[in-house]
Amino acid sequence: TEHYLSAKPLQGQHWVVTAGPTVEAIDPVRYLANRSSGKMGYAIAEMAAKAGAKVTLVSGPVSLDVPFGVNCFKVESAEAMLKQVQDALDNDSVFVSCAAVADYKPKTMATEKMKKSGSEGLTIELSQNPDILRWAAQETNAFCVGFAAETQNVSDYAKSKMERKGITMICANDVSRDDIGFSCDHNELLVFIREHDTTKEQRIGPASKIKVAEQLIELIHQVRPS
Ligand code: CTP
Ligand code: CA
Repeated sequence: TEHYLSAKPLQGQHWVVTAGPTVEAIDPVRYLANRSSGKMGYAIAEMAAKAGAKVTLVSGPVSLDVPFGVNCFKVESAEAMLKQVQDALDNDSVFVSCAAVADYKPKTMATEKMKKSGSEGLTIELSQNPDILRWAAQETNAFCVGFAAETQNVSDYAKSKMERKGITMICANDVSRDDIGFSCDHNELLVFIREHDTTKEQRIGPASKIKVAEQLIELIHQVRPS
């Protein structure tokens, strides 16, 4: 694989990668967020750049350095991430949607820090965020690759997610396991690829997220219609 990427097979291609969580403000000091270290998305961005692609990384707040040669836009909310992806995507891009986008955001953001009152609980009303991957799949010709972090029925949920979003490739990982996934340096993916009315399945890893990224890039490059 290393050989493969060093031959720069992605030269001339534009890859857009989302990574990390989105954070949705409740008030100036509090937010709702998803669990994501950003490591998998950053590894994909890094290795795609090494393989010769022009890479745009749209990242939620994470504590990782921007990989060499990668153009990175930092965002906080799902709305902001959608805008950057809309700006970045060309019709012939590859879009790898690795971010853990918050499904909901507080309906309103308090402009001042909220104060406790009495001993009552607190109810925060939420509204749904835009689905960035679905937008990309429906509104552009980019080749879209989704991720599905699941805690149960991993294959079934991932396959139905692929249908629902209108994409042909999805990478599932089982986040209920503590040896792979969240904040780990290792990962194992079960990749589903839809071709006409059959769905192929391919396992990548367990291996370091960098190795997994290399193999995934090679697979995307093979599968993507050109
Ligand atoms: N995704 C996205 N925008 C959202 C939600 C998800 O772009 N608002 C992308 C993720 O980056 C991932 C894929 O969609 O590539 C699947 O995300 P997931 O949260 O597993 O799917 P959902 O459709 O949100 O379904 P649910 O959370 O209910 O399982
Ligand atoms: Ca979700």
